[in-house]
Amino acid sequence: MTKESLLDRLSAEVGEAFAAEGLDAALGRVQRSGRKELPPFQCNGAMAAAKAAGKPPRVIAEAVAARLAESSILTGVTIGGPGFLNFDLPQSVLVGALDAIAADDDKGAWQRVDPERIIIDYGGPNVAKPLHVGHLRAAIIGECLKRLFRTVGDDVLGDIHLGDWGLQMGQLIAELKREQPDLPYFAEADEGPYPAESPVTVDDLARLYPKASAACKEDPARLAEAQEATVELQSGRPGYRALWQHFVDVSKAALEKDYGELGVTFDLWKGEADVDPLIAPMVDELQAKGLLEESDGARVIRVAREDDKKEIPPLLVVKSNGSVGYGSTDLATIIERKRELSADRVVYVVDARQREHFEQVFRAADLAGYMSADRLEHMWFGTMNGTDGKPFKTRAGGVLRLRDLIDQVVSEATKRLDQGGMAQDVSPEEKQEIARRVGIAALKFADLSNPRTSDYVFDPERFVTFEGKTGPYLQYATVRIRSVLQKAGSDGGDAPLIIEDPAEIDLALELSLYADAVQGAYEKRMPHVLCDHAFTLAQAFSRFYANCRIGDEADGQRRSSRLRLSRITFEQLNSVLTVLGIPVPEKM
Ligand code: ARG
Repeated sequence: MTKESLLDRLSAEVGEAFAAEGLDAALGRVQRSGRKELPPFQCNGAMAAAKAAGKPPRVIAEAVAARLAESSILTGVTIGGPGFLNFDLPQSVLVGALDAIAADDDKGAWQRVDPERIIIDYGGPNVAKPLHVGHLRAAIIGECLKRLFRTVGDDVLGDIHLGDWGLQMGQLIAELKREQPDLPYFAEADEGPYPAESPVTVDDLARLYPKASAACKEDPARLAEAQEATVELQSGRPGYRALWQHFVDVSKAALEKDYGELGVTFDLWKGEADVDPLIAPMVDELQAKGLLEESDGARVIRVAREDDKKEIPPLLVVKSNGSVGYGSTDLATIIERKRELSADRVVYVVDARQREHFEQVFRAADLAGYMSADRLEHMWFGTMNGTDGKPFKTRAGGVLRLRDLIDQVVSEATKRLDQGGMAQDVSPEEKQEIARRVGIAALKFADLSNPRTSDYVFDPERFVTFEGKTGPYLQYATVRIRSVLQKAGSDGGDAPLIIEDPAEIDLALELSLYADAVQGAYEKRMPHVLCDHAFTLAQAFSRFYANCRIGDEADGQRRSSRLRLSRITFEQLNSVLTVLGIPVPEKM
């Protein structure tokens, strides 16, 4: 089958007709009609062409329509108003598209012709620091983009890119040294071996870090101590390295659990520290290329350009105390991703507050010849706010704990299931599992269905309703189609499709527009386009279900066709929800 999108196919056909009239083929761009009473497809190219061609748009539209009269992939061409072209799909094309979708593993998703190797960086949690809302959105959006890239054929590696190399590591070391100075890691000139067992648990870290951070804010001497420990760690002091490894290991185990709960996984668990060996040679190379400049004892790369609308400060490469920061590890990570992981492209899913940072890093990478800036993308996102319109905090005012947030949506989901009389005749464990899936779906869908670049409000009650554009509604719609098929005892097999009723035609059209949704979501890196498709498709099925008999249709051929159409819808909904990272329960 062709994995090209339907609108692209139609646009090519209409474009040819424009070209045959001596006009630009791009004028043939086809879109879905804006109004339900019109034929489903529309092209406004005649209007755009009129001025340059020096002819009235209607005359152009008529000439194009005449050329399209013989088309095998579109039919019923009409001209509306001053020169809008409207048309339909012949039943054979619609049926052909559905047969192809049914046979396709990805249920009609669009595919790239020239896939790339893409590294996607969508974690960024910091060892010992709690996850914040920015990390939550990065995980949800990044997981979806990873799945989307894979679906269209890219070769993708997801990297968590742990924050494991900054000042917070020195703060933890210094704090622990105060509490337990006798630990072997702190002995001067000791080279180990050190105990295999970690001296701290993840709860210890959660207690130590805020304590250390508060102390550093209050007392410059404590800050100096932490900075000193950071420099020593980075320059390889064995006891500190051993301790650091324990911090990282206990954090990783806890993170894996939190992310797992959200259905978010990573192929690579690399961190800022991994590129440490690359930093010294990188600094030498940057120096040799004449890119480093001295600035108050630090070394920086100037990345500002004449035509900048706002000032872009230089990228800090080596701090005055010799330690390296966030900018240098990100720059070195680009070298690693390009040289060792053969990345064609790197996509960073990190919140909007870091736009300037990435602008600096990308420009520096480009200047240094590490990777061209147009292959580095910061796919930033807006903030998840509380109902007060400020970045979401817990009731106590503290930073978000992912666990609390998940518990909130899951308990809301349990309430809703009870209200709706759902999941009642299952075991308590099964019910808990259904509520968990519904809660996670609610949270993820709410996040993904908002355009990535917008802020949105965390409102668990609204997220879990079964009516409207929510994750639970889509799960429910999907489960319901499955039960229609189960009740009928047949999924229609390979029955020939008969697409005649307006509700059938509408559903078939929505199904054939999946490739367009995938392409649109992919090109814009915007998961909400997939959410829109899932929702429109579920609604089209609802109308079909309300208007057409399915399992109890008396005509055998029609019954089989409708069961098959239901199955194709079920499979495509499942597919798109899988790309969104939203699991569908077996029953609800
Ligand atoms: N650790 C960073 C933070 O918490 C996010 C890292 C994002 N990825 C990156 N390559 N900089 O803000």
